[in-house]
Amino acid sequence: MPLLEVRDLGVSFATNDGTVNAVNGVKLRLEKGETLGIVGESGSGKSQLAFAIMGLLAPNGTARGSVKFDGQEILNAPPAVINPIRANRVAMVFQDPMTSLNPYMRVADQMAEVLVHHKGLSKRAAVSECVRMLDAVKIPDAKGRISLYPHEFSGGMRQRVMIAMSLLCRPDLLIADEPTTALDVTVQAQIMQLLAELQREFGMATILITHDLGVIAGFCERVIVLYGGRVMEEAPVHPLFAEPSHPYTRGLLRAIPRVDHEGAVLDSIPGSPPNMTRDQKGCPFAPRCEFAGDDCVEALAPLAEFAPGRFRACNRSLEEIA
Ligand SMILES: Nc1ncnc2c1ncn2[C@@H]1O[C@H](COP(=O)(O)OP(=O)(O)O)[C@@H](O)[C@H]1O
Ligand SMILES: [Mg+2]
Repeated sequence: MPLLEVRDLGVSFATNDGTVNAVNGVKLRLEKGETLGIVGESGSGKSQLAFAIMGLLAPNGTARGSVKFDGQEILNAPPAVINPIRANRVAMVFQDPMTSLNPYMRVADQMAEVLVHHKGLSKRAAVSECVRMLDAVKIPDAKGRISLYPHEFSGGMRQRVMIAMSLLCRPDLLIADEPTTALDVTVQAQIMQLLAELQREFGMATILITHDLGVIAGFCERVIVLYGGRVMEEAPVHPLFAEPSHPYTRGLLRAIPRVDHEGAVLDSIPGSPPNMTRDQKGCPFAPRCEFAGDDCVEALAPLAEFAPGRFRACNRSLEEIA
């Protein structure tokens, strides 16, 4: 049984301008201990996909389809079902730790609270476990620093605190949503390396969400490329980089800076991300795709497996986009 199985997941928001279809017919599977990347430009539905899985959509949002965690349906499930899973088995790390850390509480108190509440530890035992976890995320002098407030840490150190906190309950699944986007490049690399080490050490399945294909390469076994709330391509990481099968993935790859191409011009994909209130029938990438024809505006090809473990949703054949 897969750890996580998402089928035909849709997320819509009711707004004054009409219905926003943020996620459409997404399907994904994650085995225990597996690392999956979800990549796409800003606005492609990555965060709402994660929030729907966690049951954390904004009040104007609705989710349909199926999300099974360890065989149990959790989409739109009652609190008695979802709360224990959210507390103990799935954890989430966000781009900006300041939104999830309480600025008025010492790190020791907010971290220990997690273990006191969910694991029934004494405050004393909880704090010493928290120090161990801060050591694991390589915060120097964890024992001394645990009594500081969040703002007394640098951005990178704060993200480490957030990661330590998310791992306290030893989750089976970690969802990291742009965990390094707010950090400068050097710190970004350090945090990604740390996440990779922790993933190996704790063996938890991980979903890494990012707009930057560059951070996927060293971390994920498999990648899903999202655009306009739809899966455009899914593949193991090596073929995705070596032979991207979808025009959108190729566009994303051309936008990654490469150290081996000194002075190379960085392409960005012309056009802007789709209007999510638009008609859902065609391919969302069609207006920006150099290979699109009238058929692409009419209908999007279903996500189809064209080689083992490799899927693409595109009306054009591989030969046509070669
Ligand atoms: N509460 C909301 N109400 C209306 N639209 C929303 C809401 N939350 C997100 N959206 C829209 O859903 C789409 C996908 O957003 P999101 O998943 O956050 O994108 P990203 O891929 O950058 O994480 C965007 O068009 C966004 O504006
Ligand atoms: Mg996001």
